[in-house]
Amino acid sequence: MNILILGSGGREHTFAWKLAQSESKPNIFVAPGNAGTHEIATNIEININDFNCVKEAVLSQHIDMVVVGPEDPLVNGVHDFFLEDDQLKNIPVIGPQKAAAELEGSKAFAKAFMERHNIPTAAYKEFTQENLEEGYAFLESLNPPYVLKADGLAAGKGVLILQDLQEAKEELKSMISDGKFGAASARVVIEEFLDGIELSVFVLTDGKNYKVLPTAKDYKRIGEGDTGLNTGGMGAISPVPFANEEFMAKIHDRIIEPTVRGLEKDNLPYKGFIFIGLIKVGNDPKVIEYNVRMGDPETEVVLPRLKTDFVEIFKAVANGTLDQVPFEIDSRAATTVMNVAGGYPEAYNKGDEITGIDAVTDQIVFQAGTTLKGGKIVTNGGRVLAVTAFGTDFREALQSSYEGVSKIQFKDRYYRTDLGFDL
Ligand code: AMP
Ligand code: GLY
Repeated sequence: MNILILGSGGREHTFAWKLAQSESKPNIFVAPGNAGTHEIATNIEININDFNCVKEAVLSQHIDMVVVGPEDPLVNGVHDFFLEDDQLKNIPVIGPQKAAAELEGSKAFAKAFMERHNIPTAAYKEFTQENLEEGYAFLESLNPPYVLKADGLAAGKGVLILQDLQEAKEELKSMISDGKFGAASARVVIEEFLDGIELSVFVLTDGKNYKVLPTAKDYKRIGEGDTGLNTGGMGAISPVPFANEEFMAKIHDRIIEPTVRGLEKDNLPYKGFIFIGLIKVGNDPKVIEYNVRMGDPETEVVLPRLKTDFVEIFKAVANGTLDQVPFEIDSRAATTVMNVAGGYPEAYNKGDEITGIDAVTDQIVFQAGTTLKGGKIVTNGGRVLAVTAFGTDFREALQSSYEGVSKIQFKDRYYRTDLGFDL
């Protein structure tokens, strides 16, 4: 079986690593991939948002299944493109169709979906140029901090949390009228601030049946103690200690079940991962956001804990038989520590040689922003690689992750040393 993974990050390296362990020994292709995927798969250098290029690669490599890593091809309709093409329509795509991918592609769409299906989330209103004045009035009616969200995809940067009313009004104007996030912020969702601790839940669905994957907690800020700029994620742990049975039952009954049933009711075709970003307010879970893909670096701790054959799982998603596949989960904790290039998430260097990966034997190195240059592995992105380890609890796992990190070097490498500090 020939499987093509779209994407180039740590998430996609982890997908490839997990698929490579399958009994069925698939041939794995990754587009465009990185230096890590190159070791276990065939990289294909294409732009994954140019679907004609994807088609050419799929046909020339005789691909039998496509697994989509990031959100943009999904929001751009890659799954629909396959279904509408005579040569591609029988090749399963893991990832929702365009209409369902709007859960991530439009915050306003996601909020309306939650409202329609009684899924707990922050109270909100949406604004455009037409009702900008009402937006100012709405801000005046709220207590700080003010939460402003660009409706569309903004590479994870579209959420502003502001303490000052005047500043919130100015930012609202800059988002809507001055295109602060381009077309993505022509519409803005303003919502109630929720105070609590965050966690993420991952669901895999075939559109009818679904399985819940292990929980994870991501550390998004660049600085120790969750300070400084937002990043794609500086590390993750799984499971989340406070997500006990009672709390998970609430998440299941109030959020997961109504989400999957809501997709069915609304005729939103979904075969893929649903990433539910949650916040625990008091003892109740509320949805912060939906993503229509796995998280990165959450994948680097969730998939290593999944024991079930990944090819069998994806086949069942494609065939609508996910109920027939038992999911076996490793009871150990897993942690991952992201190593980033100095300066990230602002300007950073590329092309610096990375050494020591081979010396890491008791942990797993998932590569993200790496590439090969003259036979050497060099940095090629802000988030460079993640070091995953297991332990009886997250503290033990973290200690092991940091041991692995200590064996790797590259110029101006930075990582957070305080993951799990809030637990
Ligand atoms: P999002 O892009 O929707 O995940 O938002 C980015 C981050 O902003 C989240 O991970 C939260 O930390 C924070 N956030 C978003 N919405 C809210 C809210 N209503 N209340 C508090 N924090 C929020
Ligand atoms: N780690 C957060 C994300 O993948 O969006």
